[in-house]
Amino acid sequence: MPILVTGGAGYIGSVTVDQLRAKGEEVVVLDNLGRGHRSAVHQDVPFYQGRVGDRVLIARIAAEHRIEACVHFAALAYVGESVLEPAKYFENNVEQGIALMEGLLEAGVRLVVFSSTCATYGEPDHIPISEKCRQWPTNPYGWSKLAMERVLDSYGRAYGLKFVALRYFNAAGATDHRGEHHEPETHLVPNVLAAARSEKAELSVFGNDYPTPDGTAIRDYVHVSDLAEAHTLALDYLRLGGDCNFINLGSGTGYSVQEVIEAARKVTGHPIPTRIEARREGDPSKLVADAKKARAILGWDPRMSDLPTILRSQWVWRQKHPLGYD
Ligand SMILES: NC(=O)c1ccc[n+]([C@@H]2O[C@H](COP(=O)([O-])OP(=O)(O)OC[C@H]3O[C@@H](n4cnc5c(N)ncnc54)[C@H](O)[C@@H]3O)[C@@H](O)[C@H]2O)c1
Repeated sequence: MPILVTGGAGYIGSVTVDQLRAKGEEVVVLDNLGRGHRSAVHQDVPFYQGRVGDRVLIARIAAEHRIEACVHFAALAYVGESVLEPAKYFENNVEQGIALMEGLLEAGVRLVVFSSTCATYGEPDHIPISEKCRQWPTNPYGWSKLAMERVLDSYGRAYGLKFVALRYFNAAGATDHRGEHHEPETHLVPNVLAAARSEKAELSVFGNDYPTPDGTAIRDYVHVSDLAEAHTLALDYLRLGGDCNFINLGSGTGYSVQEVIEAARKVTGHPIPTRIEARREGDPSKLVADAKKARAILGWDPRMSDLPTILRSQWVWRQKHPLGYD
């Protein structure tokens, strides 16, 4: 029975669609293409362009495909934009997310893998961050994801929804066929590489006065292929009757912005000029995962999530696709 992948034309969704298909799964994609790329989804995959909040459309997809499970990636995911336009985030990520869950339940779909985020922790009270750490987001994006976690938990208890909420740290890297291309691009790795390719004169570094050894913010980067694999493992876990769960996906290693720039200089052989700017509102100083639970419960082993592999893969993809998906 097919898996419905919402946001399957986006960065992580498109890689997951490829991996699910490679495992012999049938996949159906729903994406409004607001931030995704039609060409990131193989022509053979049934594709619906529309909103996850469209209950009529969800019912139609379920009727046409006898959906077994849903992997729900679709969301708006820019921290800065969420600070300026919170209403847009709560409508898209929460209101539409709830409508999707209602539609799935009505159609008898009980298994859900949800894209959550380390942004639900906010400024962490403990590093590395385990699933038990306090969740208190520092921006509306994080709150919208935390709200959906609470919705899933409540629906699990009341309506028998079975879910795994995967809290990703920073997705990065590319496969042979899919890479990271957002418009606008706010993520560090593609921006560092754009500066290496002279697509931008300088790389903006937001804040060099964080309480970290070199003053720049520290993040945990996880390769998009490793992330995608965790979704296939989470589906297997749910199919085998696994309990509802919240699971971090990170490499367990933190790199500062400055360290990523240095590593990118080595991988690309280009100088990468930088300019220091003010911190971005809502950006915590340090986010590094404790990913033991993912290993223990899902058997997840992130083999590609070292910084050189991440940078090299996105560098190769971008060289092959100088305009990204355009
Ligand atoms: N990229 C990261 O580092 C990261 C980290 C943590 C969590 N996440 C989460 O992972 C998911 C995927 O992230 P991504 O980087 O691939 O983002 P993305 O923007 O590349 O993909 C999201 C996709 O969802 C679609 N979409 C958004 N709202 C929709 C709606 N209402 N109806 C239908 N389609 C809609 C967009 O068009 C896009 O194709 C998001 O939920 C994001 O919050 C991402």
